[in-house]
Amino acid sequence: MAMRTMGRVVSRGRGGRTPGLPYNRHVHQLVVTGGFPLRGEVAVLGAKNAILKHLVATLMAPGSYRLDNVPDIADVTLMGSVIEHIGATCRFSGTSVEIDVPDELVPEAPIDLVRRMRASILVLGALLARCGEARVALPGGDDFGSRPIDMHLDGLKAMGAEFELVHGELRARATGGLRGAEVSLDFPSVGATENVLFAGVMARGTTVISNAAREPEIQDLAEFLGKMGAIIRGAGTSTIEVDGVPSLSPASHRAVPDRLEAGTYLVAGAITGGDVTVRDCVPEHLRMELRKLGEVGCETEVGKDWIRVIGPSRPGPVDFATLPYPGFHTDMHPQMVALLSIASGTSVITENIYAARFRYVGELNRLGAEVSLEGQHVIIRGVDRLSGCPVDACDIRAGAALVLAGLTAEGDTTVTDAQHIDRGYSSFDQHLRDLGAHIVREPNGSGTTTA
Ligand code: UD1
Repeated sequence: MAMRTMGRVVSRGRGGRTPGLPYNRHVHQLVVTGGFPLRGEVAVLGAKNAILKHLVATLMAPGSYRLDNVPDIADVTLMGSVIEHIGATCRFSGTSVEIDVPDELVPEAPIDLVRRMRASILVLGALLARCGEARVALPGGDDFGSRPIDMHLDGLKAMGAEFELVHGELRARATGGLRGAEVSLDFPSVGATENVLFAGVMARGTTVISNAAREPEIQDLAEFLGKMGAIIRGAGTSTIEVDGVPSLSPASHRAVPDRLEAGTYLVAGAITGGDVTVRDCVPEHLRMELRKLGEVGCETEVGKDWIRVIGPSRPGPVDFATLPYPGFHTDMHPQMVALLSIASGTSVITENIYAARFRYVGELNRLGAEVSLEGQHVIIRGVDRLSGCPVDACDIRAGAALVLAGLTAEGDTTVTDAQHIDRGYSSFDQHLRDLGAHIVREPNGSGTTTA
């Protein structure tokens, strides 16, 4: 595969963002003054966890693409940088991105980009399919305990890929080309399903993925790949069949709405005893989360593409376990714990997806919550009131949960390192202000400490 010799093409980012500088390196804090019920409407954009994969999918065929419903969030910008490093050019404008993919690619994802976002590992399947080789640094992203990629590698190996780990870089090669295979996943991993799907669409023969993840974002990815010419059956079920085709062609796509962004605003309504309607979402994708909001005492109403939640004067306790879709989403777990921290009784949440998604617990307890851990179980003894203080946003959802807690806490809650929240939510504080929240953004460390 010929290597691109020209320098990188860096296009202008929307609103001044430049894919060459993927992360807003400025650290921010959000100061939330609690006690104001949120009321009104908020619209959500496309799902981060879908768009990141659409950006990767574009690498699979040269030509021009357009993606719509794209939020201005740090992880999308970062994935833009990853595919630009590989050779694509991204032009962001409003909520769209136009991507040009050249005939020749540099099939590598470097450590400085990959270590910031685990989803970068998905270029592995796409590049193996398109180029027959890939060099990818081992992934980073949120630290929820050990997050291995063994299922990704086992699946790709079954399809003819060979791997070598050299200086922290995974070097992959499919010398004789990828071939269809039966891939049975030990666990319905979202990323492993997607990596094998990428590999399968251009492999020789048929690939069958059993125990596949059933997430709506995987269905959405399959739909986009289908527009590019892939032949995929069963996406959204636990058995996905892919008939490999020799080549794909460019397409346009509008991403599925972000159910996690929608769910977070619904919890914001619930925790403040407010009345919030989320528009442009798919209620079906939040079925389990809505059931649990109902069980804590929220009134919920759904339309074709909207959900309304009216919060109770005080939530009741509820128990549940996080599970792969259609179970309760692990990425809604910290927000739900924030809500249950002021419930009228004790709740138990069991985290089944990640071994260590609990760094937010200590921060929530600084606000006066009474949350303890027993293995994978989070025990939440509801308190009458939280009390604002400085806390740190350790990852996207933890940060969002702490802001939600701040909305109900007495006094000011300063959530430092709010740039983590910006990885997954566009205009988070602005949307909350529009709903009536008292929240200001300032540089980290202005006037408060997080000791
Ligand atoms: C995706 C989402 C993330 C969400 C998660 C679970 C994106 C960009 N991220 O992450 O927001 O929290 O799904 O819904 O879409 N595992 C292994 N071996 C593997 C692969 C995974 O042990 O080869 C484990 C992981 O460590 C984790 C669990 O399986 O404990 C689930 O991971 P997975 O479903 O793969 O999540 P991601 O695709 O990384």
